[in-house]
Amino acid sequence: MPSLSVFGAQWGDEGKGKLIDLLAQDADCVVRYQGGANAGHTVVVGGEKYVLHLVPSGILHPGKLNVVGGGVALDPAKLLEEIEGLRARGVAVDGQNLRVSANAHVIFEHHRLIDQCAERWRGEGRIGTTGRGIGPCYADKAARTGLRLCDLLDPALGKTRLRAALAEKNALLVQVHKEAPLDLESQLDRYSALAESLRPHVADTGKEIRAAYARGKRILFEGAQGAMLDIDAGTYPFVTSSNTGPNGIAAGAGFPPRQLDRIVGIAKAYCTRVGEGPFPSEQKNPIGDRIRVAGNEYGATTGRPRRCGWFDAVAVRYALETAGADSWIMTNLDVLTGFDEIRAAVRYRKDGVETRDWPAHASSVESYEPVFESKPGWTEDITGVRRYEDLPAAARAYVEWIEREVAAPIGMLSVGPDRAQVISRGLEPW
Ligand code: GDP
Ligand code: IMO
Ligand code: MG
Repeated sequence: MPSLSVFGAQWGDEGKGKLIDLLAQDADCVVRYQGGANAGHTVVVGGEKYVLHLVPSGILHPGKLNVVGGGVALDPAKLLEEIEGLRARGVAVDGQNLRVSANAHVIFEHHRLIDQCAERWRGEGRIGTTGRGIGPCYADKAARTGLRLCDLLDPALGKTRLRAALAEKNALLVQVHKEAPLDLESQLDRYSALAESLRPHVADTGKEIRAAYARGKRILFEGAQGAMLDIDAGTYPFVTSSNTGPNGIAAGAGFPPRQLDRIVGIAKAYCTRVGEGPFPSEQKNPIGDRIRVAGNEYGATTGRPRRCGWFDAVAVRYALETAGADSWIMTNLDVLTGFDEIRAAVRYRKDGVETRDWPAHASSVESYEPVFESKPGWTEDITGVRRYEDLPAAARAYVEWIEREVAAPIGMLSVGPDRAQVISRGLEPW
């Protein structure tokens, strides 16, 4: 299939980076279309670990076109830092293999400051954002007060628009947040220079992707965050500020929705979440701690310990159904090795009534309790297994049970962080 959407079907950190890197082998083009440097996508190749934030996870394969689409909230300083970091490790990144949309909205210093100040104002109701300025940047985009990369590449236009933006943001910073104001000239100099450094990468990326597709090239869309963090379908207000799944691709990459050929979700064999908000199957107990240690569940972007719990079939089923996923990939199955009993939330209960449906009102999620069922665990190390039939019978029984509960086929399993640690189930994503 020539175009493929791969997205997170939980609350982020499902192992998208690993799978995108793997699937990029068969792609011509890998495209980020939403989110920003709030993402942390880990790729491990031959023991070498790379954490990608804005650069698409296809970059480790020579000869692929990597695209940062117009829907991405672009922190130019972070992108340049990431490019330098990759080059320092011998990864080729240039204007040919990394293309950035001129229409991407720019994250400025004031966005990061306001993100952090707004969290303080929210107090108990804080979201636990990554502090990367994502929400304020997308807010300005919707308010039509943001600056796109192309605005900064035109010095006169950049100055006019940044002056207008800073007039309002400085009033907010000084009068509401009691912070120091930002100086227009120095901000303009800094961000114009950053934009100039990115000029070799700037392209009409939507046109390039559409042309590549028309020539029969294979396009892989890399979702950031996860379905349950989607601004519309997720656990609002404890979400990020973009459409994280295939629903974000048309607008964020400039790619016609009818040309999306395949949709594949990614979910862990258990569940994690970073930041605040509902998490029905969370285990705030030694089980959660054990999963955190076994899975090394610490944020790839902020280093925060991730909240851990059992697999939530209600949430993943909803995520895959709303995305129209053809199949999904279960990651981190190896992390469950050694548990006597493995549980999963298969229904929710409220007022004595059980349901398999995700609550219609996101605000009411916390009033439901999960109904857990369980299967026996296994003790064998499965990190070296490459064929499904070589997995312990209990591991296969767990996988097939979850597959039934979620009501969508599992095409592949991941049993370790390395590119090579996968098990096909004969249902290839492409
Ligand atoms: P992403 O944001 O979805 O790309 O995921 P992250 O990179 O933030 O977090 C996933 C973590 O799990 C990373 O540390 C990966 O190296 C690791 N990982 C990915 N797949 C597997 C797997 O199958 N087993 C184990 N043990 N770790 C995995
Ligand atoms: P990847 O792509 C996990 C979470 C934050 C917070 C909420 C809003 O690596 O899966 P934001 O900074 O976006 O305004 O924060 O979303 N969050 C993520 N959690 N993985 C991510 O990305 C995330 N990006 C944002 O922790 O709860
Ligand atoms: Mg991550």
